[in-house]
Amino acid sequence: MQTIKIGMLGIGNIGKGTYQTLEINREKITQATGLDLEITKILNRHPEIDRGIDIPREKYVTDIKEILEDPEISIVVELIGGIEPATTFMADALRAGKHVVTANKAAIAKNGQMLTELAQKQQRILRFEASVAGGIPILNAITSALISNEFSSVQGILNGTTNYILTKMTEEGASYEDVLKDAQKKGFAEADPTADVEGIDAANKLSILISLLFGKGVGPDEIPTRGISNVSSEDIAFAEKFGYKIKLLASATSKDGQLTCDVEPSLVPQDHPLANVNNEYNAVYVTGNAVDNLMFYGKGAGPLPTGSAVMGDIIGVARKIEKDAAYDLMSHLRYDADLEFIGEGCNPYYIRLQTYDRPGILGQITSTFGVYGISIKTMMQQALNSEKTALDVLIQNQSVASVDNVLRVLNS
Ligand code: HSE
Repeated sequence: MQTIKIGMLGIGNIGKGTYQTLEINREKITQATGLDLEITKILNRHPEIDRGIDIPREKYVTDIKEILEDPEISIVVELIGGIEPATTFMADALRAGKHVVTANKAAIAKNGQMLTELAQKQQRILRFEASVAGGIPILNAITSALISNEFSSVQGILNGTTNYILTKMTEEGASYEDVLKDAQKKGFAEADPTADVEGIDAANKLSILISLLFGKGVGPDEIPTRGISNVSSEDIAFAEKFGYKIKLLASATSKDGQLTCDVEPSLVPQDHPLANVNNEYNAVYVTGNAVDNLMFYGKGAGPLPTGSAVMGDIIGVARKIEKDAAYDLMSHLRYDADLEFIGEGCNPYYIRLQTYDRPGILGQITSTFGVYGISIKTMMQQALNSEKTALDVLIQNQSVASVDNVLRVLNS
């Protein structure tokens, strides 16, 4: 039986999850592949720290050279996260003739083009299934089983932290701040939650999906992005009255030669499958011209779900090595599709306003919308006290940007 030796960079949560997935399922993996997979070296800058996992200490190395210069290691698995030094490590591994597997969405979203070109030049494989939606095998699905489709759109709940917060706000009527504090206490949200709550993490993942689904290079910084920190319990309650749930959606659409995309808290009709994706779960809803609508659902984070995706990539690469295939086009990021990138599209929006309760005020507001060519679908008014009134307005097919209490509505 052929032994494939693997060098792993990092032994944090995902590193441990990957190691454990291989250990607990070793027999099944060997049976299914006819290969003996062995993680022989692990880059661990602080071997003195107890990682809470039983790994023979002789596997630990503190210098990446010990992995890159080991001729027996054919796959390097990058699990340290962040853009640098992870990108440099992956590039060095490809230059050293290793195949690379990573879970790193930030590095792939930013430097995927360079790494893909380098992999091609070196005739080595680069895979990154775990970088988008953790345990959900969405990249494999769109680059293999669904490859015959032209895709027209994708909507994803790609961040578990924000989905957990929005779910708790919806179920408990609690404020954003209170739920975030509670989530941090329970370890569901990072001490610095900025990348998650401001939509940056979801934008990284959407950038990767856009490249694989539509062949277009749209960097995460180019994606119009708003997080959930402005979503209030009032927004959630009013959305419910209109028949919607609020979700942080990462969306992209290719239509008539134009690509639109954004990451925004959005109103999702209660009968849409994405509306029932709750807590830390992720989902990707994708539409292809042959397959029609498909939804993938599962855990988007966590050591074992992410480890399952990393191991899937490792096995995929190991099978190629066994067949002596040095390079393949699977997970091949593309950036040059003939699509005009126009940023945020034209969508229905929800607007929440507070105004003084005076005769004629409603007329003035609706006239102002009319002046700007904005068509109102539904409007709900509720007196707040003797002076003020709250207005909730659903508008049709208009793009309204840069107003804090405007939430996108998912077309149903
Ligand atoms: N922080 C991410 C989330 C998981 O909350 O979904 C890793 O991508």
